[in-house]
Amino acid sequence: MTDKELYILAKKARDYSYSPYSGFKVGSAIETDKGVYTGTNIENASYPVTVCAERVAIFNAVSKGDRNIVKIAVASSGDKLTPPCGMCLQVISELAPKAKIILGQGEDDIKVYDIKDLLPMAFSLEDKK
Ligand code: THU
Repeated sequence: MTDKELYILAKKARDYSYSPYSGFKVGSAIETDKGVYTGTNIENASYPVTVCAERVAIFNAVSKGDRNIVKIAVASSGDKLTPPCGMCLQVISELAPKAKIILGQGEDDIKVYDIKDLLPMAFSLEDKK
């Protein structure tokens, strides 16, 4: 699947956003070696309970035993690129460290990043035990 095709799936997933509090819709689509999974942001009246689209999509794949995440696309209702929040970057760093992160705005404007671009000094227990 091309980056643009995955981004289009992220935009479709965004339609299911449950975001009555912020009004900010986010969709995410991820590609693994076995398939594609999507997620959307799901808010809650108890605000911190809210879950971001990226984490819903990643947990969707991981909970199906599909952990080889190759690409992650994110589309929001905003008019600027929406990079994953800090919590999502930490999750990407743990579960999808090699994934290409595809951020887009509008129809065609897509930019591709590595996790190291967005979270250069990620926390890990690897060298701390
Ligand atoms: N949001 C995401 O879904 N992904 C991000 O990486 C940034 C923020 C959602 C959470 C909340 O529903 C809304 O955007 C406003 O913060």
